[in-house]
Formats: sequence, structure tokens, C-alpha cells
Amino acid sequence: MWAGFKKTVITGGVGIALLVLGLILLYCFPLIFSYIIQKNLPLAKGSMSYKLWKDIPLPLYQKIYFFNVTNPEEFLQQKSKPKLVEIGPYTYRSWWTKENITWNNNDTVTYREVKKYVFKPELSVGSENDVITTVNFPMLAAASWLRNTSPLEEIAASILMFLTREKIFIQRKVKQLAYEGYPDLLTVIAPLIHPDVPKTHGYFGWFYGKNDTDDGEFTVFTGKDSISKFNTIKNWNGTQSLKYWTGECNKIAGTSEY
Ligand SMILES: *[C@@H]1O[C@H](CO)[C@@H](O)[C@H](O)[C@H]1NC(C)=O
Ligand SMILES: *[C@@H]1O[C@H](CO)[C@@H](O)[C@H](O)[C@H]1NC(C)=O
Ligand SMILES: *[C@@H]1O[C@H](CO)[C@@H](O)[C@H](O)[C@H]1NC(C)=O
Ligand SMILES: *[C@@H]1O[C@H](CO)[C@@H](O)[C@H](O)[C@H]1NC(C)=O
Ligand SMILES: *[C@@H]1O[C@H](CO)[C@@H](O)[C@H](O)[C@H]1NC(C)=O
Repeated sequence: MWAGFKKTVITGGVGIALLVLGLILLYCFPLIFSYIIQKNLPLAKGSMSYKLWKDIPLPLYQKIYFFNVTNPEEFLQQKSKPKLVEIGPYTYRSWWTKENITWNNNDTVTYREVKKYVFKPELSVGSENDVITTVNFPMLAAASWLRNTSPLEEIAASILMFLTREKIFIQRKVKQLAYEGYPDLLTVIAPLIHPDVPKTHGYFGWFYGKNDTDDGEFTVFTGKDSISKFNTIKNWNGTQSLKYWTGECNKIAGTSEY
């Protein structure tokens, strides 16, 4: 009987000890957890997050799909609606790496992020030399812009389009439509008429000039002063807001990824 009592006391004692330990852990765990986060997450040379942040280790893929116009002549002769066939994906593997990283002494860090794209034929429906019949985007953009411009500019532009023999549909290789670009007279002329149109050395491509380049200089919070600010953007290319749109849309906020 005495032995049984002893057993009960010991079991009970161990039970209580475990309960107390459990309660302590339950109470302390969030503190320990946030301590570990606070210690390791903020960006700093050699911190746990730094390597992941600097060279994003995940394989990033960009998949491009085109609408191929298969009856351009019939459409232009107004014999039928345009027939569009979706073709894709044409896949590019992408690498994002942060360069020229400067640590500022106010819990921010400044960098440029270089994005590189390489075509992956094994993940694509065809080669980068496939020819796509597509709308002549610079011409359509010009035409749309002309709808709300002065009559004089409209006449000048119409003559220009006639002289440059712009067509509604063009045939270009996938690589030309994507990164390589193709020569286009309107992209030379447009910035002369309208200073807001970016200069592209006379080339047009949906991603022309985007390979192996960066999108400007970013300054982001390291999260050291407050973890909730981790990797949020302080300013971009020296400004805290854009000037392309109006109001809210110009805001620079959030993070550049994830
Ligand atoms: C796209 O359509 C054209 C006809 O306009 C055709 O000649 C061409 O082969 C098509 N391209 C692809 C990649 O299927
Ligand atoms: C980083 O700095 C070097 C030296 O100033 C410069 O040559 C290089 O173009 C910079 N990299 C980027 C992505 O701007
Ligand atoms: C911190 O310093 C950088 C570089 O001097 C500056 O661009 C940034 O605006 C500063 N950030 C804050 C929050 O003061
Ligand atoms: C992007 O640039 C890299 C290096 O400059 C080159 O190897 C690669 O083929 C280019 N990618 C495309 C899609 O042109
Ligand atoms: C960033 O600013 C520089 C000079 O202020 C400018 O040349 C560059 O085009 C800007 N970058 C972007 C992506 O707008």
C-alpha cells in the first residue's frame, strides 16, 4: 500500500512538473519564436534571409503565349473575322540577382536587381524562331493615341503611316517579339513627337531591353528596427512615388517580390 502511494505521488509529481514545463513553454514559445525571427530575418550580411534574398534560389519561369492570326488576308479583305490560335508556352528561365548592395546606417539597404532570361526549348512548344502573325502594336498604339490629338498632328501622323507603309498585321519571330526586338520606325518617331514615349533605339519587342538589366535602384527596409517592415520599399530610383498616373496608383509600396 505504502509502495502504491509512493508511486501515485511520483506519477503525480512528474505530471505536475510536465504541466508546469508545458505552461512555461506555451507562454515562452511565442517569445522564443519572435526572438529567433527578430535575430535571423532582418537583412544583414550573413543573416539567414540574406542569401535567399540576394540570389533567389527558386527556379523562376516566364511563359509567353501568343495569339497567331491565321487568316490575315481574309480579314483585311473584310471576308471574315480574324481567326486567333493561341500558341505557347514559349518558356524562359529567369534569374534575379541583387547587385551593388549598399547597407545604409538607417536600417535600409540599397541595391539593383538584375534579371536574366534564357530560352528553354525543352519547356516550350516550339523554337524561338517560330513565326507568329500578330497585330502591329506600335502602329495600333499610335492610332489609338491619335484619336484624342489635334487635327494637324493627326494628318501628319496619317501621312507618316502611309509613307512608312505600316501594316495592321506583321510576321515576326518569337524571339523578335519577346526580348530581341525588331526595328520599327514608329518607335523612333514617337518619342520625338511625344517626350513621354520611352526611347528604345528604334526597336520594339514586348520585353525589349529587359534582359540582363535592372529596373532601377531600390532602397528597402532591412526589418532590423521593425520586423513588419522587412523588405518593404522605402524608395525606388530616388523617389517615393511615380508620376505616370494620378493619386493612389502612383504609390510605391509593398515589396519587390514574394
Ligand atoms: C501562324 O500563322 C501563320 C499564318 O498567318 C502561319 O503561317 C504560321 O505557321 C503560324 N505560326 C505558328 C507558330 O504556328
Ligand atoms: C554595379 O557597380 C559597378 C561599378 O560601379 C557598375 O559597373 C555596374 O554596372 C553596377 N551594376 C548595376 C547592375 O548597375
Ligand atoms: C536611409 O538612407 C538612405 C541612403 O542615404 C536614404 O536613401 C533613405 O531615404 C534613408 N531612409 C530613411 C528611412 O531615412
Ligand atoms: C539574355 O542575356 C544573356 C547574357 O547576356 C544571354 O545569354 C541570353 O541568351 C539572353 N536571353 C535572351 C532571351 O535573349
Ligand atoms: C532611374 O533614374 C535614372 C537617373 O535618374 C534614369 O536614367 C533611369 O532611366 C531610371 N530608371 C528607370 C527604370 O526609370
